Amino acid sequence: MTGKKEIVFLSGNYINRDEARISPDDRGFIFADGVYEVVRSYRGKLFEPGHHIERLGRSLAALDIRGFDPALIENISEKLIESNDLSSCDSTVYIEVTRGTAPRSHTVPSPRVSPTVYAFASRLDRPVNKQKEGIAIIFVPDDRWGRCDIKSISLLPNILARQKAEDEGADEAVFVLGSDITEGSSSSFAAVFSGALATHPESPRILGGITRKIVIDLCERAGIPVDQRPIKKEELIYADEMMILSTTREVMPVTICDGKKVTSGKPGKITRRLQQLYTRYIEK
Ligand code: PDD
Repeated sequence: MTGKKEIVFLSGNYINRDEARISPDDRGFIFADGVYEVVRSYRGKLFEPGHHIERLGRSLAALDIRGFDPALIENISEKLIESNDLSSCDSTVYIEVTRGTAPRSHTVPSPRVSPTVYAFASRLDRPVNKQKEGIAIIFVPDDRWGRCDIKSISLLPNILARQKAEDEGADEAVFVLGSDITEGSSSSFAAVFSGALATHPESPRILGGITRKIVIDLCERAGIPVDQRPIKKEELIYADEMMILSTTREVMPVTICDGKKVTSGKPGKITRRLQQLYTRYIEK
């Protein structure tokens, strides 16, 4: 944006970003007591808002954060896209809801306080070059808590893992719990074995990724078998293809894994097919 101030949403108001103020006693700041969503917009049109509303509702319910109707994120996102001149490009909207501001106490404030809601939109082009080349991943131990299905803002293990990947010249860190591959630091993980897509089943050990869900549907419609099961790290030597899936990276081939090429070191056939189907799905 040139010259024009960025508009953000803060607890009911659309204001300039540099005027946005959040209390240091906000439970998001003190305890990471909050949840979030990242919604994609293509050419100004929100992508799958219903799934994001549903997931935000589930995250809020799991933490018993009350006082914010998740359905509002559709309207908030649309307004932010419009007021920040993002209607003709691709963007993301970040929405965070915390339990609100109250004197520090480990128990939930009583009486309850209004949640803090913060949202902003930013331009984000589709990562088409990386999608053609593929990315490098590393594996890291999954030392997260047991409720990774909640899209919590408490992301310290994810951040440390992602930084380790960055330090080692890789683009994503993928968690391994015992010997099971769960998911990436900010993405779902899938691999192809003998023409079938394998990915961890929905469980408290992973976030129910929306891209993952769409890709599973696309596979089913295209006749690509899907095996929702935990993949063992040792099995990966037999994998023909690997990919990560997320709202921001879409279907992203993994061509280097722990420093070694994945088969030919080029995106595989099924990955490319899924990229095409995903692009068609976005454009429909
Ligand atoms: N992350 N798993 C984790 C841990 C994630 O943080 C994400 C998304 C996903 C993929 O979910 P989806 O397909 O719904 O984007 C899986 C977002 C993009 C983020 O934190 O920026």
